[in-house]
Parts: sequence; structure tokens; C-alpha cells
Amino acid sequence: RWKIYGSNWCNLTQSLIMQKLEVFGANKLKGKINISGSKNASLPILAASLLSKSKITLKNLPKVKDIETMLLLLDSLGSKVKKIKDKTIINNSNQNKTFASYNLVKTMRAGILVLGPLLAKFGKARVSSPGGCSIGVRPIDIHLKALSQLGVKYKINQGYVHATAPNGLIGSKIRFSKISVGATENLIIAASLAKGTTILSNCAIEPEIKDLVSFLIKIGCKINWISKRSIKIVGVSKIKDASYSVMFDRIEAGTYLVAAAVTEGNISIKNVIPRIIQTEINTLKKIGAKIKVKNDEVHIVGNKKIKSINIKTAPYPGFPTDLQAQMMVLLCKANKQSVIKEDIFENRFMHVAELNRMGAKISTDGNKAKVIGNINFEAAELMATDLRASVSLILAALTAKGKSVVNRIYHLDRGYENIEKKLKKVGAKIRRVN
Ligand code: EPZ
Repeated sequence: RWKIYGSNWCNLTQSLIMQKLEVFGANKLKGKINISGSKNASLPILAASLLSKSKITLKNLPKVKDIETMLLLLDSLGSKVKKIKDKTIINNSNQNKTFASYNLVKTMRAGILVLGPLLAKFGKARVSSPGGCSIGVRPIDIHLKALSQLGVKYKINQGYVHATAPNGLIGSKIRFSKISVGATENLIIAASLAKGTTILSNCAIEPEIKDLVSFLIKIGCKINWISKRSIKIVGVSKIKDASYSVMFDRIEAGTYLVAAAVTEGNISIKNVIPRIIQTEINTLKKIGAKIKVKNDEVHIVGNKKIKSINIKTAPYPGFPTDLQAQMMVLLCKANKQSVIKEDIFENRFMHVAELNRMGAKISTDGNKAKVIGNINFEAAELMATDLRASVSLILAALTAKGKSVVNRIYHLDRGYENIEKKLKKVGAKIRRVN
């Protein structure tokens, strides 16, 4: 089935590339939005499922393109993937390949996350190096340096990482030179089957990493946090069958909160854990939104008066870089100028040019963006570039009178499940056209 799906892959992608979204603004969003499972928790958990030699069942995986790509990658490695209702069952009893090809990794950088599990399980792997994307070079030097401290030998040629662990992975003390989500995930997964104990320090502590650790413990790994950014992993030899439901997507949640704030809307987002998005909630309160929290729900009412603030992106629990573009749209409508500093990626202002075409007055200098306030966006024909920049164009279009068109929405489909359905349900006039 996957093979047939794979052969239709090219014409399916062809039609996806031509798709666009038409947005008729401006209107206020009102109602409830159910938040889907987290793309950035699902990807490392799917990679970690390779540790198993039998069956892993996952629930709440979001229906987004990156998850489809990761499932195709697992399929190409010999995993048998079956979807039954809201469950995805991965059977690895015949999973024996260790080659992750360029054509699957090139569209989704997280493909590099299969390197750790394949090395842990087979002692060898050939994985396409992910290459860059529109937000930056996206190197993997931190992953590779740390893996070499577990005994991995590697060389990079013709765009592939050729890695082996001749004596298997050996536990070690490793300190990351820089906080990296992907490197932390790759190493936690690899160390889970290493001989002996590994201590990782200066780890990223994003909620998605905590979710990965909960999943690994559920399948029998011995892992515990020994300080805020240090974690201890005692290698095991047996992985258990288990079923696991991934956490909510905190970036999707934050995006819809901003959508409510920027359209002076009145929205409740459901299926969330409010304390995990406390930074985003506090920021939106400072800007003037009224926010109430109850159990697994956050209710927000946008305010006509939006106060300007300065924002700096930082590793969790700082302000997430994945919400920077969305906040920039909101701050264009603030009462005064704001400054946004992008401290995680070197080129994450791709949305600025498109927003300026809609009437924004944003100037950038290196990783700093100066955002003039009191802007009314004008409807326009737009081009999406990366996942989060694309959604910022939708947010601006929701507030602009008239019809905007966002092209290349395959970027959006990588990380937002049913975005036009969810927005339509709360009153947006939006439709997908080929
Ligand atoms: C993860 O990317 C997320 N992706 C990104 O979300 C997110 O923006 C990012 O973390 C930061 O929070 C997934 O989880 C699948 P990093 P990752 O390693 O792991 C540099 C989205 O929109 N670096 O924490 O690639 C790197 O260049 C995506 O959903 C090295 O220099 O991020 C960047 O400047 C976009 N060497 C910084 O560290 C390395 O070996 C942080 O990168 C690795 C990273």
C-alpha cells in the first residue's frame, strides 16, 4: 500500500505545489478550536520507535505532511506502518535497513533524527545530511560531535553521513556546546541502548523533549533528569511494546491565540496544557489581550488597543522562535514601535518582505527587526516561504479588507492540520484553491 502511495507521490506533490489559500478579510474570529498533536514531539518519537524490534502504537499524531514524510522514511527503513482510526501502528519485526535517502530527508530536516536510533540498534547508519532550509544553514555538527563521544565514527561524503559504532555505543559524559533541540533528542535516543550510563548536560528542555523522554520510559528506557538541563540515561537491552499519545502542539496553540489577538476575536483553544504555553500567555496579556485559563482550555479575547513590546526569541522556556513571525504580525498593529530579536536562527525574517508588501513597515538589521505600529494590512497576492512565515501571512490576511491569496501553501501543510477548516469554523472566510 505504501509503495502505491509512494508511486502516486510525485503527482500528488505536483498538485500540492500549485495549491493556494484565498483569504477574505477582515473579520473577527469567534468560537472554539481543537488543538492537534505536536508535530515536533511526534517526529522524534517516530524516530525513536526504530529502537523497537516489534510493535509501537502512537495516538494523536497530527495529520500534517512532515508526519507523512517521517512515516514514509520509516517505511523505507523496513518498518511496517498501519493506520487504524486514530492509531498509527509501527511494526518493526522486519525493520533492518539503515539507509535514509536524500529524497525523503531533503524536505524534512528532522529526518536526521533517525541517525541516533539506527546507530543504537545496528551500530551503523547512512543518513542524508539534511542540508539547509529557508530559515538557515541548519548544521548538524553538535549532533555528530556528541555521537562521536559515544564511540561513533563518521564521515560525510556526497551529502550523506556515513556513521558506524564498531564496538557499539558506549555511555559517556557529554556537554553540548550549544543548546540544540535536535541534538538533545538524537543523543537521548542513541544513549538509550548504549552500554553503560550517559550524562548529557546543557540540554534543550523543550516540552517536546520531555514528551520524547516519557515515551522512551514507557518503552522500557531508563532515563531521568538530574538537573534543569542535565539528563542521565542508563542503557538498556530490551525495548517493550507500548502505546503512547503525543502531547498537544504548543506552536499551533500559540498561533491561534495570536490569530484571536490580531483580529480582536474571542476564541477558546482546547486540548492544551496551559502551563506549557505560560510564556506566550504572559506575552499576550502584556500586549493587552484578556486571557482566562481553565483545565485543558485557554480563552482569549483580543483587545482593540494592542500595546507594543520588545521580544527576544530563546530556547524554552523563553519566547519560542516558532512564534516569532506570528507575533510580528500582531506587533504591526500595536500602538507604538516594537523590536524583535531572533536569537535562534540566522535567517528567520523571510516573512518581512511579504508583510511589507501588505503595508507593514518592518526594517531588519541582522537578527533584529524594527516593527512600526498602527499598520492596517492591505490584501495582496503572497508567497509562502517557510512553515511559520506562511502562517503569519494568513494572520495578516485575516485582518486585511478584501481578498488575499497565499501561494505555495505546501509549506503550511507541513505543520498545520486542516488550517482552513479550523479557521473557517471560527468565522474566517478562507478557502483552498488549486
Ligand atoms: C527544532 O529544530 C524544531 N524542529 C524547530 O521547529 C525549532 O524552531 C527549533 O528546534 C528551535 O526551537 C523540530 O523539532 C522538528 P536546534 P532543530 O537544533 O532541532 C544551531 C518548526 O517550525 N545548530 O535547536 O533543528 C541551529 O542552526 C521548526 O516546527 C547548530 O549550530 O533546532 C540553530 O541556529 C523550525 N548545530 C540553533 O542551533 C547543530 O548541530 C537551534 O537549532 C544543531 C543546531
